[in-house]
Amino acid sequence: MTMPGRFITLEGVDGAGKSTHLGFVADWLRQRGKEVIVTREPGGTPLGETLRELLLHREMAADTELLLMFAARQEHLAALIQPALARGAWVVSDRFTDASYAYQCGGRGIAAGRIAALESWVQHGFAPDLTLLFDVPPEVAEARRSAARTADRFEREADSFFNRVRNAYLDRARAEPGRIHVLDARQPIEAVQAEIGQLLQGLA
Ligand code: TYD
Repeated sequence: MTMPGRFITLEGVDGAGKSTHLGFVADWLRQRGKEVIVTREPGGTPLGETLRELLLHREMAADTELLLMFAARQEHLAALIQPALARGAWVVSDRFTDASYAYQCGGRGIAAGRIAALESWVQHGFAPDLTLLFDVPPEVAEARRSAARTADRFEREADSFFNRVRNAYLDRARAEPGRIHVLDARQPIEAVQAEIGQLLQGLA
């Protein structure tokens, strides 16, 4: 189905600084007259936010974690993302399915085929129009994480976990260069935002 709105996702390891750039993306689009919905995963709906609380703070098996991520995503797509796109709004999401490949496959070691099966069940081929991948070396992300507020269940993982997450993200970017754009998030914020502006220009 062709939808008039556009779907943009932001990705990166915890500490890459993606949340800082979310507001910039939304403002840039709003200044150009778009209706913009800002959302996040896991979360974005009342049920999804309840699942997020469990995912970030309760211990669970890796497969449970993956299934709950996709349960939240199903709800997010049906209740928020697809209706918004259908009426012509632009949707900007802090994380989406690339995070499941990076964290649950790269980080936790679940087979990529299981994630692909859930992706086709829930998304039927639907994917973001543009994905911004904020990339930083592991030591930079670690320094930013420890400067931030109390760590959640993911943020308490070891450096080796985040190295695997980062590499899984970069593999995805290499496989889908037309959709996923890697931004060097070590640069000053203004330099990163200038690059984001150019990418949005190409989409608008
Ligand atoms: P995050 O996006 O970092 O939010 P905040 O900046 O508020 O901490 O937190 C979401 C966490 O969920 C993050 O550690 C990655 C994880 N996650 C997955 O493991 N798989 C997924 O599919 C998604 C969407 C998120």
